[in-house]
Amino acid sequence: MAKITTATLLKMKQQSEKISTITAYDASFAKLFDQAGIHAILIGDSLGMVLQGEDNTLPVSIDAMAYHTRCVKRGVEDTLIISDMPFMSYATTEQTYENAAKLMQAGASMIKMEGGSWLVDTIKGLTERGIPVCGHLGLTPQSVHVFGGFKVQGRQQEQADMIIEQAKELEQAGIQLLVLECIPASLGKAITAAVNIPTIGIGAGKDTDGQILVMHDALGISCSYMPKFSRNFLKDTGDIKKAIELYIDEVSNENFPGDDHIFK
Ligand code: KIV
Repeated sequence: MAKITTATLLKMKQQSEKISTITAYDASFAKLFDQAGIHAILIGDSLGMVLQGEDNTLPVSIDAMAYHTRCVKRGVEDTLIISDMPFMSYATTEQTYENAAKLMQAGASMIKMEGGSWLVDTIKGLTERGIPVCGHLGLTPQSVHVFGGFKVQGRQQEQADMIIEQAKELEQAGIQLLVLECIPASLGKAITAAVNIPTIGIGAGKDTDGQILVMHDALGISCSYMPKFSRNFLKDTGDIKKAIELYIDEVSNENFPGDDHIFK
């Protein structure tokens, strides 16, 4: 497999080829996923929940993100590495640049930040300084307390329109990838049509340009519960590498997500 870059993902969108991505937090899983042919690995701040056993992602530190990014980097040859900026690590400009630099120097090729219009200047500043940014809209878990729980977003027309506008604003500001989490499938489709950058869905329907899953959900080993939008690919294969190859195939053939995995 050739080295995957942001340009590869953009070309995949333009050629209507589906993008498969997954989270990883260490070198061994990262190597296996890379060898299976996954297009991008996210070191998600979901590590707070699936590795550390916390109730949400808020306790995750930038040092933990940098540590796991370094671990993943050592296992990867070709896959694009994206690393999450954790809660309150991008609250001010100075903090943002310092923390984004830590993740890039640890081995990320792109950083991800949750939020809408308020991030426009930050995204411009980072991109101008050579740091590619992935946006994240819909259910943004760092705002769980503002939402009053992990709830599907964008079901009301007004909120759906606002998320579409925010996606366009973030694209204009310079994001090169956009994660859409827990929104109605129709909204995932509308956002994907409204922007020229690739969209990656998790509980956002089958019409996004690609999919992402938390690895523990895709392998059925989550310590909490299995989200509606996920599927246990290990159950069908009994082998971790084959499970990820099946996930990639199912995304590519548009068999995943199925009707049971989407929100209306
Ligand atoms: O932290 C994470 O793993 C994420 C994905 C769920 C998109 O942000």
